[in-house]
Amino acid sequence: MKKFLVIGNPIEHSLSPKLHNYWIQSNNLKAVYDKKKLDLSELDILIKELREKKIDGVNVTVPFKNSVIPFLDKLSKEAQTTQSVNTIYLRDGMVIGHNTDIEGFELAIKHINYDVVGKNVLILGAGGVSPSIVVALNNMCAKKIFISNRTKSKAEHLKKTFNEIEIIDWGSTPDFDMIINATSLGLKKEDNIILDFSKITSEKFFYDVIYNPSETNFLRSAKKNGNKIENGKKMFIYQAQASFRIWNNLEPKVDDIVMELLN
Ligand code: ATR
Repeated sequence: MKKFLVIGNPIEHSLSPKLHNYWIQSNNLKAVYDKKKLDLSELDILIKELREKKIDGVNVTVPFKNSVIPFLDKLSKEAQTTQSVNTIYLRDGMVIGHNTDIEGFELAIKHINYDVVGKNVLILGAGGVSPSIVVALNNMCAKKIFISNRTKSKAEHLKKTFNEIEIIDWGSTPDFDMIINATSLGLKKEDNIILDFSKITSEKFFYDVIYNPSETNFLRSAKKNGNKIENGKKMFIYQAQASFRIWNNLEPKVDDIVMELLN
């Protein structure tokens, strides 16, 4: 029986077990996928269990995507660039950290047929997920990436790795084609991101990394003002699909049942 885990703190909200266990069952695999709330001090024990093959794969979520790195033997190129690990596995005796958020975001955008080539993109937030989105947007040939973060120093830190980004003051909006909420604002129903819609012409693309709630105030206001919107559900599904593929060496289907599972 293979054993997989998602670790984080908090972890109660995670839908990864639901999704992975559906794929485990529909592919007739002998495996189980659990969630585990951890403290930082327990990361070394967990990685030891993976090294000893007591665990076969680990997904990492907030707040450990960066802090888990010192415990790993090797990072993939994607994990190295973003300093963010969401998928861990053992290969040739080495514990490898990889980042499938980049692929998740790219596939989500491709599946809704949005063409990023030549677009100006504004990312709100310079937290854990933002480097993955910057890499994905670069891979998809965005023309220009702006970043705006309440705490400007964090955006400046990101610019040390991604010199091509332009930092914008929190609350101001440059001329963009696509705007991405990569902050945690919106997780609570009452959360609001103040945007001056009188300065934003309609028919822009508003993307929210948050998928629960499925329509944040950010997306609701954007829709009301005639913009295209998308939440983070597909990104979540495709990052999970990539992890599943690495661990089990097969491509699980993203079908209607999968889409319904997460509603
Ligand atoms: P971390 O900041 O530890 O990386 P995260 O969940 O990955 O955590 O990122 C949270 C993001 O949401 C950050 O960009 C954060 O902005 P700050 O860097 O200024 O904290 C943003 N965020 C959270 N609450 C916010 C709020 N009330 N207003 C504006 N931005 C907020």
